[in-house]
Amino acid sequence: MRNSVETSLDTARTGPEGTPCATSGRKIKMMSLEQAREWLRDATAVAVLTGAGISAESGVPTFRGAGGLWKDYKPEDLATPEAFARDPRLVWEWYNWRRETIKQAKPNAGHAALVRLEIQKPHFTLITQNVDGLHDMAGSGRILKLHGDIWRMRCTSCGSNWPDRRAPLPKLPPHCGCGGLARPGVVWFGEPLPEGMMQEAEHATLAAQVLLVVGTSAQVYPAAGLIPLAKQAGARVIQVNLEPTPYSGIVDCALEGPAGEILPQLI
Ligand SMILES: NC(=O)c1ccc[n+]([C@@H]2O[C@H](COP(=O)([O-])OP(=O)(O)OC[C@H]3O[C@@H](n4cnc5c(N)ncnc54)[C@H](O)[C@@H]3O)[C@@H](O)[C@H]2O)c1
Ligand SMILES: [Zn+2]
Repeated sequence: MRNSVETSLDTARTGPEGTPCATSGRKIKMMSLEQAREWLRDATAVAVLTGAGISAESGVPTFRGAGGLWKDYKPEDLATPEAFARDPRLVWEWYNWRRETIKQAKPNAGHAALVRLEIQKPHFTLITQNVDGLHDMAGSGRILKLHGDIWRMRCTSCGSNWPDRRAPLPKLPPHCGCGGLARPGVVWFGEPLPEGMMQEAEHATLAAQVLLVVGTSAQVYPAAGLIPLAKQAGARVIQVNLEPTPYSGIVDCALEGPAGEILPQLI
């Protein structure tokens, strides 16, 4: 929010390492924003971790925010291998609904700002927990999709996987050409991440001078573990979120406000 940027330097709190940072309420303190902007500007190696919050302003509901429930089901009760084994049609109905919502969505100013950051930096890795494809649509290059892609399907029989952007799907549950039941190409709660993906994310995090964490509640592991990993490796960690997270106390700078407004000011 441009008009919420405050210029009162004396009200900025002091961060964990004596750095002037952190924000109060939804007001961005100019001093912390300036400091974060400087860290980002001076860094040659940057990693970014995004979560559902970056897509909220595009109209994609987060899991833990308003609109996260579907027919009174919590995502944690549907996004599991157990739920799919019990009732694949129900789980596919939910994915069908999510695909229809996401299909309407366009990348926002937050996604676009990350594309500009990628162009500026010699070493840049975008690590996302999102499955919505909005970073691709915005034009981001290399994306580590920790939790897969809602626009891909995988066969539970032969293991083949393929893109499918139809929404709504013509028939639920969908099947593979081999006759096997198809599942969404995403990682469910309790499942391992795609082979080698977390190692790549850790590698990029360890090499980064700045880790920018955007719109994640930092409650889903192993993704959230990248935040303390970056701190241990000596990187500056900048968090952008509407509200505090479990890591607000250890990050170097916690900017509170909508990603679509803060990221363009930061980058
Ligand atoms: N768009 C998507 O692809 C999508 C949507 C919902 C859930 N998920 C999945 O849900 C899991 C949940 O973890 P998560 O941490 O990504 O999401 P989450 O729902 O747990 O948390 C979302 C976070 O974003 C913040 N937020 C909401 N609106 C924001 C905004 N406009 N600007 C900045 N921050 C904002 C919230 O305060 C919250 O901390 C992930 O594994 C992800 O794969 C993905
Ligand atoms: Zn198959």
